[in-house]
Amino acid sequence: MGQPTHGTSSQDSLTVKDNRTGKVYTIPIVDNAVSATAFKDIKAPRKPNERVENETEKGLRVQDKGFLNTAVMQSTITYIDGEAGVLHYRGYPIEQLAEKSSHLESAYLLIYGSLPTQPQYELFEREVLNHGVTHSDTAQFFRSFRYDAHPMSMLTSAFAMLGSYYSEANPSLQGQRLYTKGDAASLATMDRQIYRIIGKATTLAAMAYRIRQGREFVTPPTGLSYTASFLYQMDHIGEENYVPNPVLVKALDTLFLIHADHELNASCTTVLQTGSSLVDPYSAIAAGCASLYGPLHGGANEAVIRMLISIGKPENVPAFIEAVKRREKTLSGFGHRVYKTSDPRSFIVRKTADEVFKVTGQDQLLETAMALHDAAMKDEYFIKRRLAPNVDFWSGLIYRAMGFPLDFFPVLFAVPRVVGWLAHWRQMMLQEGGVKIWRPRQVYVGETKRDFVPVEDRVAVEGPKQTPSKVQHGGISKRTQLASYKSKL
Ligand code: CMC
Repeated sequence: MGQPTHGTSSQDSLTVKDNRTGKVYTIPIVDNAVSATAFKDIKAPRKPNERVENETEKGLRVQDKGFLNTAVMQSTITYIDGEAGVLHYRGYPIEQLAEKSSHLESAYLLIYGSLPTQPQYELFEREVLNHGVTHSDTAQFFRSFRYDAHPMSMLTSAFAMLGSYYSEANPSLQGQRLYTKGDAASLATMDRQIYRIIGKATTLAAMAYRIRQGREFVTPPTGLSYTASFLYQMDHIGEENYVPNPVLVKALDTLFLIHADHELNASCTTVLQTGSSLVDPYSAIAAGCASLYGPLHGGANEAVIRMLISIGKPENVPAFIEAVKRREKTLSGFGHRVYKTSDPRSFIVRKTADEVFKVTGQDQLLETAMALHDAAMKDEYFIKRRLAPNVDFWSGLIYRAMGFPLDFFPVLFAVPRVVGWLAHWRQMMLQEGGVKIWRPRQVYVGETKRDFVPVEDRVAVEGPKQTPSKVQHGGISKRTQLASYKSKL
């Protein structure tokens, strides 16, 4: 494969001619994909003045900044057709699942591949819910954060912390094949971590919420569904027979379900990249949380509301749209790497919003959101770039109507998304041929080899990106600034 060929070749292949050498290569096409390593066989002699760092004689590299067209996995989990606005979990359309399934049932589907029977579901639910309780030291851990810590910082750290409790789940201690053997014992170890991570995700998230409210933590309740238990853990103070509102439980469950997976997005890729070193799953999930937190990804739901607050009234929308077009502002909640016509999740979210608003009352930012949506959908700038509202455009409005604090919104994305991360992590651990560490290549365009210059011979290199920035030392009080003392530096 990828070797020079001279004869005719199968139709399921790519014929590539290297004009530098005149050689022709045949590269097989499997499942409408070519192997990037096949291009490594395409070699040419280095030109007389060519940089040695190009490594031309070592084979052609495939460059793809931002993974625009690079498939790093074969997967059987989730399918997205971005042109048609289609999303399937294991072949089931998201619309059907949102209507007929639950978050935990869809979690089973995503992780294990098929819809569970009643007894299978009951066992899975019991395992997940039974693993909701955390070690009592976790309370101490949450109390160590500053009063205004972002809940995503807490959640990210909490997952990493959680791993420290389970030495039996750590390949660094138990051997690197802990999760890749595929035998009954290895699968049981893997599934136990899956139950723990899904079960404790709501507990940790609720703790991140309660610490900010100055509330004592509560033990996960019994007899409530996964989502109802989450709301209970956040909101129960001491009332008798506290049961969260069923409309809000159902709405949150639907939102959890549609956020559970989205194939190889930034955070899932981060989980797999981290997991490819065979590190423990808690560390991989913490890395996924960190990736999700950013405003281009799971932080967008928070960014949308901050944007709507900054716009204020619907009459300010045209000026905002113009600022976006001048690239002074970002229209958060619009655009998607994969969806180019519509995000099917956004329709489900809008329907869910109607149900929620019936019990909570409408969010006052809804009118501004509608005006912004309508203006963007009619504007040539957005039409030309095929930018449509994504799931985050509407979900924040529901979370706000339900009374969640703004900075908690990404947590409401991360909690259900652990399911997708675990499904992909499990798939990778069990894939045929074992796990290959994810180690991309680069195209080095920096300095070529040069000799060290002694300090007295150096000429200062100046420039905003070429020298360390000067920073203000904000922690120093006025009084210290006026004091006299011998500096340690
Ligand atoms: N507002 C204004 N212009 C935009 C936007 C936007 N929200 N999104 C993309 N564009 C423009 C972009 O400037 C570019 O224009 P040009 O070709 O003239 O330079 C063009 O559209 C193509 O965009 P891109 O940046 O190449 O697209 P991408 O696939 O690299 O980025 C994205 C996808 C989601 C990061 C981006 O659309 C964006 O920043 N959206 C706002 C943040 C957001 O809502 N994120 C949530 C995504 S959905 C939930 C999830 O799965 O995380």
